Amino acid sequence: MNGSTAPRLPADIADPLPAAGTIMMNLLFHLIHGNRLIYNACWEDPRLDRQLLQLDGDSEIVVITSAGCNVLDYLLDGPRAIQAVDVNYRQNALLELKLAFLAAGDFEELFAFFGQGGSAAYREVYAALRERLSGAAQAFWDRHITYFSGTGLRRSFYWHGAAGDFAWLLRGFLMGNGRTASLVQGLLNAQSLTEQHYFYSQIEGIIFTRPLSWLLRQPATMACIGVPRAQMQLLDRQYPGRLDGFVRDKLRQVMTALPIRDNYFWRVYLTGSYTPECCPNYLQPENFNRLKAAVNLVSTHTCTLTEFLQRQPGLYSHFVLLDHQDWLAWHQPQTLAEEWQAIFANSRPGTKILMRSAGFDLSFVPVEVKARLRFFPEVTEPLHKQDRVGTYGSLHLAEVIS
Ligand SMILES: C[S@@+](CC[C@H](N)C(=O)[O-])C[C@H]1O[C@@H](n2cnc3c(N)ncnc32)[C@H](O)[C@@H]1O
Repeated sequence: MNGSTAPRLPADIADPLPAAGTIMMNLLFHLIHGNRLIYNACWEDPRLDRQLLQLDGDSEIVVITSAGCNVLDYLLDGPRAIQAVDVNYRQNALLELKLAFLAAGDFEELFAFFGQGGSAAYREVYAALRERLSGAAQAFWDRHITYFSGTGLRRSFYWHGAAGDFAWLLRGFLMGNGRTASLVQGLLNAQSLTEQHYFYSQIEGIIFTRPLSWLLRQPATMACIGVPRAQMQLLDRQYPGRLDGFVRDKLRQVMTALPIRDNYFWRVYLTGSYTPECCPNYLQPENFNRLKAAVNLVSTHTCTLTEFLQRQPGLYSHFVLLDHQDWLAWHQPQTLAEEWQAIFANSRPGTKILMRSAGFDLSFVPVEVKARLRFFPEVTEPLHKQDRVGTYGSLHLAEVIS
């Protein structure tokens, strides 16, 4: 696929000679993302994924790990094997710790750590599970198991890591003021969309002030939450109300059009914990033994997706790419072309590929790649409206044709 026609960015975004601003932002992006745990929880809705992937006992899945919550969700559909791949070893260390709890811990300890975000017995519990982790995961958690201490300013695990920084700041901004805090609590406890609308319409006025809209449009802010400059510029250019208009409309959709009672994505970042009624499937007691029986079906790999497919070739039935190609498309089109080459070399006709993007279309997919895939917008677009995360521009399911 050399000489492939990489996705084309509008001229004013494609920086042939990246201005100082772009270089600085990419440096900031790498500084924040290069050396840390980024995602302490998956920020993609597995309920939609599972409807689209249609996993079964023959499924061999390759998925980008991120925080691993969705890997455990897919495991509930009884696949043959899941290969969890992430270039950031800390993401795999997080999944390994969850797998260790399922394999050798008990449900109460698992829920204390990942449901409540911390436990007074965190050192003892970790000591009992440590030997099940790889060397890299032990090295990481030996230094960072205090994320689960449940004490200090950031008393929840969900306020650690790069995504945790942003959540902690957001929560501080919203819950630091008595009136806003009670509105947010009212929203989280709302029993109807009408009630949600009542609370959220007041919160929206507090959030989307001129200074905050300005802050939202700053590349540095987006870099902090993992949105590379090119993606941000695309939204700012493509969306009628610009980037802050996009965020405003997406948030309003999630907070007023979808039931909040099972939206564990926003609950955990606004409160620092899940509840037994509002949490990912891997934290529900009725799934504990099923997951315990299946943990050996999951393998973690710290490398790029392309490297993994070169090391462990196979005819995989499913690929879950999250939104990682958004970044590659604009910054490393050659790397993206090589990744697609590896995906096609390790798939068969009918292989399903799930992707999300900050953008609204498939412009991040190279033209000749699109020619080998069938897409299902009639299925994904209506489903995307039910996305409990609500911060992505689009959701895509592709099937390999040839
Ligand atoms: C943009 S994030 C996706 C996060 C996801 N949206 C979420 O919220 O759960 C990309 C993830 O993919 C990993 N990643 C990025 N490029 C990769 C590559 N080429 N191969 C494997 N993992 C990659 C990053 O370390 C990160 O965990």
